[in-house]
Amino acid sequence: MRATTAVIPAAGLGTRFLPATKAVPKELLPIVDTPGLQLIVDECVGAGFEHVVVVTSRAKPAIEQYFAPRLDLVAALRAAGRDEVAERVARIGHDARISFAYQDETKGLGHAVGCARAAVGDQPFAVLLPDELLADSSLLAQMADLSATTGGSVVGLKRVPRDELHRYGVIDPAGPITADGVVPVRTMVEKPRNEDAPSDLILIGRYLLTPDVFDCIDRVQPGAGGEIQLTDALCMQAAAGPFHGVLSDVGRHDTGNPLGWLQAVLDRALDDPALGGPLRAWLAARG
Ligand code: G1P
Repeated sequence: MRATTAVIPAAGLGTRFLPATKAVPKELLPIVDTPGLQLIVDECVGAGFEHVVVVTSRAKPAIEQYFAPRLDLVAALRAAGRDEVAERVARIGHDARISFAYQDETKGLGHAVGCARAAVGDQPFAVLLPDELLADSSLLAQMADLSATTGGSVVGLKRVPRDELHRYGVIDPAGPITADGVVPVRTMVEKPRNEDAPSDLILIGRYLLTPDVFDCIDRVQPGAGGEIQLTDALCMQAAAGPFHGVLSDVGRHDTGNPLGWLQAVLDRALDDPALGGPLRAWLAARG
């Protein structure tokens, strides 16, 4: 069965962007004119997912407001002849069914995913970390297809320089990588020391998980940073059955820190037909 539900954990405090994120959730910070969260929903829709569960917190009401209809705004835009932006606003929350689950304590990514259990049900599902922006839906679609074939969980991977490994979950490969980028995974470790990392292949925040992961999450003890780590639950799955990674070279931005967010904004602006030229000229003149 190919997964149709995707989970987006979005309950974090966004402390690296304070004070901006005191009132505006980090996931709604604009990447030019589009919230990062919308780009993640677009990635889900592009990979054929029909239902998106956003795990949020009651301290971040703007996330739900973002997906709520704004008929007054759409009508005002249409009346002003701004049909294109009216269409974009009207479509928000309609490309996929959006539902919400709540994580009112920040106890880690594993805990956040566990909060989506009732909304997901007993079926395979995707998890997309909204800090990580990918250029297209190809990796997620490949992961969903692979999981439907193997019947096991699948994680998205990227190769990074060795001195960055301590910031991520890192896999221990159980065999060679195929021409399609598929690699069997023996186990994983969350935020290892660079010198202890079992490979240079990191988890990039894209997961396709079988629903037994929820029972694994329930059994996980607090790990790195004192949090319930999703990676630790995935280790239990990898020990018990088929578990694969897909190595992708799709463009990626880690917007979890201000520099990564700025790079994502600049990349999108430079690719924009209206903004790219003037921005390039301004950057060149500024030196
Ligand atoms: C999380 C995961 C980690 C993964 C990373 C990708 O870490 O726990 O395994 O490599 O996302 O961005 P976080 O960035 O939340 O500390």
